[in-house]
Amino acid sequence: MRKIAVLTSGGDAPGMNAAIRGIVRVGIKRGFEVYGVYEGYQGLVANQIEKLGYSDVSEVLAKGGTLLQSSRLLEFKEDAVQEKAIQNLKKRGIEGLIVIGGDGSYRGALALSRKGINCIAIPGTIDNDIHGTDETIGFHTALNNIIDAVNKLRDTSSSHHRCFVVEVMGNHADNLAIYAAIACGSEVVITDKTGYDENQIIELLKVNEKEYHKRHAIVIVSERILDVERLAQRISEETGFSGRSIVLGHIQRGGTPTPEDRILASRMAEAAVHLLLERKTGLCVCLKDSKIVAKSIDDALNEENENHEELYKLFYDLV
Ligand code: F6P
Repeated sequence: MRKIAVLTSGGDAPGMNAAIRGIVRVGIKRGFEVYGVYEGYQGLVANQIEKLGYSDVSEVLAKGGTLLQSSRLLEFKEDAVQEKAIQNLKKRGIEGLIVIGGDGSYRGALALSRKGINCIAIPGTIDNDIHGTDETIGFHTALNNIIDAVNKLRDTSSSHHRCFVVEVMGNHADNLAIYAAIACGSEVVITDKTGYDENQIIELLKVNEKEYHKRHAIVIVSERILDVERLAQRISEETGFSGRSIVLGHIQRGGTPTPEDRILASRMAEAAVHLLLERKTGLCVCLKDSKIVAKSIDDALNEENENHEELYKLFYDLV
């Protein structure tokens, strides 16, 4: 194998650039020609592929987003669409592909590997919801962004006797919410795992106010569970707090990656290139107990994610 390519797919994640840089630099050092596919699977199908050199990845480590750009292409499930992508790789003699993304991107990589392209996946998503890896690239930075925002909200919350209902991302995964809740010392956390009883939340806030004499309160909510504005309004009506809501949205996904994300991405990139050197395919790179290991993409997609029982216990012990 002489030519390999890299693409980023799905939601961008801070640290993806460090992974691309690692693949290009390590790839070149191990004797590969390295190609970048622009705009994810969409660009693979549209033949947006260009050779990347050492200097093309200079000065990208500190940048958020992905220099290769990204997309979500639902049609990539279809055989005919996958065939087009394979033809574009074959025309250029590219035999190996590294896909950086979340579970949707993993499905595409698995499909291509079953059709003869040597594919390795790297977990790049702020959601941290890929089985088998303790952390995904981007999670750390997104968590930092949330903590930074909540610290600021707490300042104004205390000054005005307010309760902020803060919606965080995660796409049904609770990682960002429960980690942020512990790190920010929020009064309440609501995720798919905690369930949602509005009356109970109102009672809890009243206890915080009356028994603990709190003049601030933070409620962290995973996206897609409830209407944060409506909950904030009920808090205003039924407790002594004035309720305010905020959806942190894509702010969480931007900004310069933390050192943890840059280092994780660089380590995973090196491992992915080495797997292609060994002509491995259908594997994803994982961080397990501080070591970089590989497991099958199929397993990563089909096993259950962690339930975080211990983290919830800790949260409830601390509030
Ligand atoms: O998967 C990353 C993520 O940011 C999720 O947390 C969120 O649900 C989703 O992407 C948002 O997608 P989009 O950027 O396409 O609106």
